[in-house]
Amino acid sequence: MTQTEASYHRAPGDAPAPPAGCPVNDFTPFAADYVADPYAVLDGLRDTPVFYSRELGYLVVTGMEDISEIFLDPAAFGSQNVQDPVFPLSATAHAVLSAPDFDPVAVMSNRQPPAHGRIRNHTKQGFSNRRMRILEPYIRGRSHDLVDAMMAAASPADFVARFAHPLPGETIFRFIGFPESDDEKLKGWCSDRLAFSWGNPSEAEQTDIAHKMLAYWRYCRSVVAAKVDDPGDDFASELLAVHKRDPAELTYREVESIVYGLSFAGHEIVSHFLSNALICLLSRRSQWRQICADATLIPAALEEVLRFESPQTSWRRVANTDTEVAGVKVPAGTNIFMSLAAANHQPDIFEEPGEFDIHRPNARNHISFGKGIHFCLGARLARLEAVVALEVLTERLPSMRLVEGQSLQRFANITFRGPKELLVAWDP
Ligand code: HEM
Repeated sequence: MTQTEASYHRAPGDAPAPPAGCPVNDFTPFAADYVADPYAVLDGLRDTPVFYSRELGYLVVTGMEDISEIFLDPAAFGSQNVQDPVFPLSATAHAVLSAPDFDPVAVMSNRQPPAHGRIRNHTKQGFSNRRMRILEPYIRGRSHDLVDAMMAAASPADFVARFAHPLPGETIFRFIGFPESDDEKLKGWCSDRLAFSWGNPSEAEQTDIAHKMLAYWRYCRSVVAAKVDDPGDDFASELLAVHKRDPAELTYREVESIVYGLSFAGHEIVSHFLSNALICLLSRRSQWRQICADATLIPAALEEVLRFESPQTSWRRVANTDTEVAGVKVPAGTNIFMSLAAANHQPDIFEEPGEFDIHRPNARNHISFGKGIHFCLGARLARLEAVVALEVLTERLPSMRLVEGQSLQRFANITFRGPKELLVAWDP
């Protein structure tokens, strides 16, 4: 992989030794018990707000206040590692990604100030309230279509395949300007990217994924290139217009890389958000009934889903300088794993954190969208998609329930959490 400071993905280097005096343990998000229930594992670690995971080679931080301080100090804690593979890449995968044209640049989550602010200013135009109002009828229409198709196929059905996966994918792909005919391959590529940056793929899987990542990047480049002379009514074309007005303000490579970045950022995580919402609500029938009877309760219910069972349970940073976290002296170069899941279940902030309650007054104080200069740019879109989806589902399928006895399988990775499959049934 050819890489510079601003490369989108960087091969992980050697981690510095654990900080002196810091507790060290074998915590790993790849352990079966963590994949099944991270909250139970994290509860057991509550007395150690910062520790070093030998398995990951990362400093793990679990307290809301410490995590907030890290998010709010981008000079000391850089985000350049957030899209990197967790573990070293195999030589073959490395060779595939060393193709001279595999050169996406860091644009937002992994870009550092001051360039980050310049690029974010242009990208945020796509997520304004006005834009959301334009997208809303599309999301509602597709939600109805997907429910129609799910009902036509009869109960029970896999909610992930039938609804949670297609809705956010199609929404973000239309928003960017990808043609519908490419949806299926795009959906597959996004799952591959999740495994690449946050999973622990075997050597053979890494090589396969590396080929697909290269194809994905080349695809993004070709879509952008086609819009240079033939712009559409889409966000990629708007970014190109900014570039055309002032190429120094937004470079061509940055436009390509934003397209590459957003197509992933807006997809799989929202699928998990929708599935997690159903898991929380359908397994607590009285709360499901309440939102069926009163749709104005849906936004608050979704904030509680983001707190209680977030689709994103962690995020990363790296110490740019010798610094300190929760009283522990941390050398420059230390990778940091912030456990958003632990912070979202902190008992002195959220009363009875293990209880799911759509009426929790401070659910919105969760940290699932991050904080500070990198605060999730797509939060408004994610919330809109989930509100509309639940409005449609509660109206059309109030009798929906989880199929009893199913055991939920989740893909082991350090950050994203949602079921691979979710069987739901309803009355005819
Ligand atoms: C429930 C769904 C989502 C969750 C939980 C989520 C969570 C996050 C988190 C934790 C961050 C890092 C924040 C930080 O470093 O302070 C982030 C950044 C980001 N998210 Fe999301 N996200 C979601 C949906 C989306 C969607 C739908 C999009 C776009 C279509 C999106 C685009 C982005 C972008 C571009 C960034 C980087 C922003 C920057 O660095 O300035 N996200 N998100």
